[in-house]
Amino acid sequence: MKKFAVFASGNGSNFEAIAKRMREEKWDAELSLLVTDKPQAKAVERAEALHIPSFAFEPSSFENKAAFERAVIEQLRLHGAELIVLAGYMRLIGDTLLEAYGGRIINIHPSLLPAFPGIDAVGQAYRAGVKVAGITVHYVDEGMDTGPIIAQKAFEIQENDTLENIEHTIHELEHKWYPSVVKQLLGLNNRGEKA
Ligand code: GRF
Repeated sequence: MKKFAVFASGNGSNFEAIAKRMREEKWDAELSLLVTDKPQAKAVERAEALHIPSFAFEPSSFENKAAFERAVIEQLRLHGAELIVLAGYMRLIGDTLLEAYGGRIINIHPSLLPAFPGIDAVGQAYRAGVKVAGITVHYVDEGMDTGPIIAQKAFEIQENDTLENIEHTIHELEHKWYPSVVKQLLGLNNRGEKA
């Protein structure tokens, strides 16, 4: 059975959506670890409620990024993680993690990349007056929201849409599609079995 980890720095709603879908559909896979760089994050509470182990670290208590990434890798190995799913993890992945897990790290971003990388992507798109918005799942490389695109979902913005309801639609799309992409990358078929 393939095991995977989710990294989150904040709310963790995507983390929860993936965990719930995995359980509802009885995937032949296990979300074995939540990793966070914010010990107070809501994602940690969600992991506790779901009985999923978490590794919360304080970056400032390590000498540098390589040092905390080594600690993360140790935890990933302990929990058998073969795939890393970033879901609102607000840090660039460094060389240490990329060397250990390169090609096996994915991220979700709330825009149609390569448009609007970085923070507040939905706000950036809204202020630019785009007529089509969406989400992107991509492999992670050393850049910020760069790396080969795996999947995108788009929707049209209506005249009377507000930033709030666009954000709402984005989250709904993320919760629906990110678990599906993860499932596919784990090599599972529609029934959640090994394909
Ligand atoms: C999502 O919008 C995701 O696209 C972005 O960060 C947000 C995380 O939300 N990378 P949540 O913590 O999963 O609720």
